[in-house]
Amino acid sequence: MRKIALVNQKGGCGKTTTAVNLASFLADMGRKVLLVDMDPQGHCALNLGTPPESVVKSTHEVLTAALPMAEAVTPVHENLDAVFSNVVLSAFEQLMSGVPDREYRLKEALSHVEFLYDYILVDCPPSVGLLTFNALMACDEALVPVDSSANSLHGLDRLIDSMAFIRNHVGHAIQVRILPVNIAPRTRFGQWVLRTLREKYPGSCATSVITSSTRLREAAAHGQPVTRFSPQDHAYTEYQALALELLRMETHTPHVRKPEQTEQKVSQGASRHPEGARQVVFAFEAPEGMPVKVAGDFNNWKPEDLVPARSGDRTVWKKVMTLPPGTYQYKYVVDGRWIPDPVNSRVSEDVYGGYNSIMSV
Ligand SMILES: Nc1ncnc2c1ncn2[C@@H]1O[C@H](COP(=O)(O)OP(=O)(O)O)[C@@H](O)[C@H]1O
Ligand SMILES: [Mg+2]
Repeated sequence: MRKIALVNQKGGCGKTTTAVNLASFLADMGRKVLLVDMDPQGHCALNLGTPPESVVKSTHEVLTAALPMAEAVTPVHENLDAVFSNVVLSAFEQLMSGVPDREYRLKEALSHVEFLYDYILVDCPPSVGLLTFNALMACDEALVPVDSSANSLHGLDRLIDSMAFIRNHVGHAIQVRILPVNIAPRTRFGQWVLRTLREKYPGSCATSVITSSTRLREAAAHGQPVTRFSPQDHAYTEYQALALELLRMETHTPHVRKPEQTEQKVSQGASRHPEGARQVVFAFEAPEGMPVKVAGDFNNWKPEDLVPARSGDRTVWKKVMTLPPGTYQYKYVVDGRWIPDPVNSRVSEDVYGGYNSIMSV
């Protein structure tokens, strides 16, 4: 189980956008995810279609021990739960003044539910006050979105100092990963920001980069993660790559996927050919008008059509292939876009700087 704080004292640098979209991707990849909003602005709720003022059981009740964490959890979609916040949380710092162990409120609250999840993502407010401190004390990792602005780069040193302080004075080490967000990669400035981050913080920068995307803003305005709102946008591929980057570092055994999701996976059928070949079902959920193909080293990377099948209000595209034993690399081609299998965490880097999915027969 991993607990990751989305932290940066600068506002508007992509913390909530990253928290919501990463959480949604990890959930779609079969991980059990809890998203916790520690920002009184309540943007996690807003970006997931819930007006913050309508949130009754919020982070505030949990942190002030008025409510057990489990009772504040709202299901968002398959595998994704959230504890939302709203403006009431702004009273927390004042209320806790002089209260012993006030920095450990979130850590304590999470301890009662964390066994249920593979990932807990904690979205922080744009400050380094008591709420952010609670998040950092509760988490072992920090994902720091940095947008392309001088203020963002300037604040990064202070943030890293805060985490060094926590390590040196409290003995709590936090693994920091910097994520460039809202970067215009074709501009000189965008390239300079990327270069500066990688030179100044070698080893602490994520491989993934989230470039500027109007669709991300639109998705937030429609209260949907990009997984649901815009699978054709480059932001979809970029947040997917970030989720895969995190999956590749997993050391824990994820919770078992729910049975109804297993058909989405590349799954091996029962029928065996004499020479040991097996049937493999490629399956991908996508809207009906969005043609899906599969390509891999088993078909010389020549995309082959999957066939759509309705399942309730969902459409799952499928193709059955018979493959001899071996290890194969593959990708789906969705509406012309090449993407790795979102529900298969086994990946290897391709020659284009992306990822191929891997399966063994
Ligand atoms: N990659 C991006 N491209 C374009 N707009 C973005 C991107 N990431 C975030 N935004 C937008 O920037 C604004 C601030 O993002 P947000 O995630 O709320 O920041 P924070 O939580 O750090 O305050 C939002 O309107 C959001 O839609
Ligand atoms: Mg935010």
